[in-house]
Amino acid sequence: MRLDVVTIFPEYLEPLNVSLVGKARARGQLGVHVHDLRDWTYDRHSTVDDTPYGGGPGMVMKTEPWGEALDQILADGYESGAREPALVVPTPSGRRFTQEVALELSRKPWLIFTPARYEGIDRRVADEYATRMPVYEVSIGDYVLAGGEAAVLVITEAVARLLPGVLGNAESHRDDSFAPGAMADLLEGPVYTKPPEWRGRAIPEVLLSGHHGKIARWRRDEAFRRTARNRPDLIERCDAAAFDKKDREILSILGWEPEPDGRFWRRRADVEE
Ligand code: ADE
Repeated sequence: MRLDVVTIFPEYLEPLNVSLVGKARARGQLGVHVHDLRDWTYDRHSTVDDTPYGGGPGMVMKTEPWGEALDQILADGYESGAREPALVVPTPSGRRFTQEVALELSRKPWLIFTPARYEGIDRRVADEYATRMPVYEVSIGDYVLAGGEAAVLVITEAVARLLPGVLGNAESHRDDSFAPGAMADLLEGPVYTKPPEWRGRAIPEVLLSGHHGKIARWRRDEAFRRTARNRPDLIERCDAAAFDKKDREILSILGWEPEPDGRFWRRRADVEE
């Protein structure tokens, strides 16, 4: 996979040299090219922004540097054999970046990121490139960052670990929270390793039992409990037909009750944490 990032803070992307993404680069599984947007400015101050039409606070990133940068990066990429680019625009007004979107992006051969500062990029840039390639406007969460660079790091890491051969153990992301499959829509439960006792704290006995069925059941119960506590929205989204007897027991203990039609469970209003 080829990644291009255009930014006014190239040094912000240094973490792409370390850990999982750095190793994938070193192994040639990922080609990363970071570009300084100001290389495509021609005035003394290397201006990349201007005041917004219609008034209002803040500044808007200008069309010309972005257009020239993207045209050249596309030309250079095609020249070196890259194909099927997709533009990834991190913005708090984008669609939510989820594991599903990460999976979709991991199947693309070429991603071009345009992290913005200030109030964002002149709309015409996304509209222009959308005529030539898929454009993903994505938000990594309901909060506003000072710029999209941190979002690029988040998205890159989530995508890179899904590339074939990047994670050591091919099964490592099978049980991820949010992974499609048996544990779909449940968070991962707690995990433990040696020593068996630490500061007087033992590990749950079932994990030492060697009984695979019991261990799987315990893991599911813990995942379910954690999800009901931390992400009630995920439980409410489930079709209750997917809940087994034990799930229902846990929900009930945690203060949930079924809707009259039995399809959804709601947290009782009177329950305190
Ligand atoms: N830029 C600023 N805030 C952001 C967010 N929450 N997600 C993606 N890009 C952003």
